[in-house]
Amino acid sequence: MKVIQSISETMAACRATARPVGLVPTMGYLHEGHATLARCASAECATTVASIFVNPTQFGPSEDFASYPRSMERDLAMLEAAGTDIVFAPTVEEMYPPGFDTWVEVGKLAQRLEGAVRTGHFRGVCTVVAKLFTITRPDKAYFGRKDGQQLAVVRKMAADLNLGVEIVPVDTVREPDGLAMSSRNVYLTPEQRRAAPVIYRALSHVRELYLKGERNAERLRHEGRRIIESEPLVQRVDYFSIADAATLEELEVVDRPAMVSTTARVGKARLIDNIILE
Ligand code: PAJ
Repeated sequence: MKVIQSISETMAACRATARPVGLVPTMGYLHEGHATLARCASAECATTVASIFVNPTQFGPSEDFASYPRSMERDLAMLEAAGTDIVFAPTVEEMYPPGFDTWVEVGKLAQRLEGAVRTGHFRGVCTVVAKLFTITRPDKAYFGRKDGQQLAVVRKMAADLNLGVEIVPVDTVREPDGLAMSSRNVYLTPEQRRAAPVIYRALSHVRELYLKGERNAERLRHEGRRIIESEPLVQRVDYFSIADAATLEELEVVDRPAMVSTTARVGKARLIDNIILE
């Protein structure tokens, strides 16, 4: 496995390698969710490229960029075990040299949900993902369903800009108690960690009601939010959404594939999760 910091060397290595090339973009501090993405890529592609880059432009001024967990050596061992061939791990200066001032912005899809709470977040995500695509020229790129809106926004960008990259979704990997794996789970104290599975319990309850025939989105939203807010260690729920899975517009009646998504603040961690109803 090659580990490269420079853009020009990564471009050369990716040009010279066997196709198809699969890209797995990450911000490091990897867990089994990331490893699953890398394993999917290496099962389907001749070359697997992973990137590790904590991207400052997708963090708001009061967010956790400076304290975002990092563990390069462990990450490299996990990626190697998952069949990765090339790791691109640039510095901030390499990706954003002085004077950098070009941005990729997706419209409406990126303004809802996370976009409404985290202004500029998806502009940062799309800009860095577009750069990663240009640097590594992948045939396929692997994204987790855990960040459901990110997946939709990146797909939209790839389609609208004809980037020629197939976006491959990978199912959410969960802890045995249902909590979606996330690098940010490390922020939870043991007590908060015991409370956090309430998020997936709420999503699962909404799915049960839906499967029993409930189609009124407002009632489903109300039930989901009620369960999460019944947990005293949850400080805030920014949204509990039931939206058209394609456009992310809020639904009144669940009469088409829908994404049920929510975010809960537990201690220092802002946890997000979603499921699809169809
Ligand atoms: P990061 O949070 O490190 O996630 C990297 C990829 O792993 C994303 O596609 C994410 O959806 C996926 N992932 C995270 N947790 C997962 C889980 N429990 N199950 C399945 N997949 C999971 O998302 C980012 O980084 C950044 O925004 C990035 C796309 C790298 C751009 O900076």
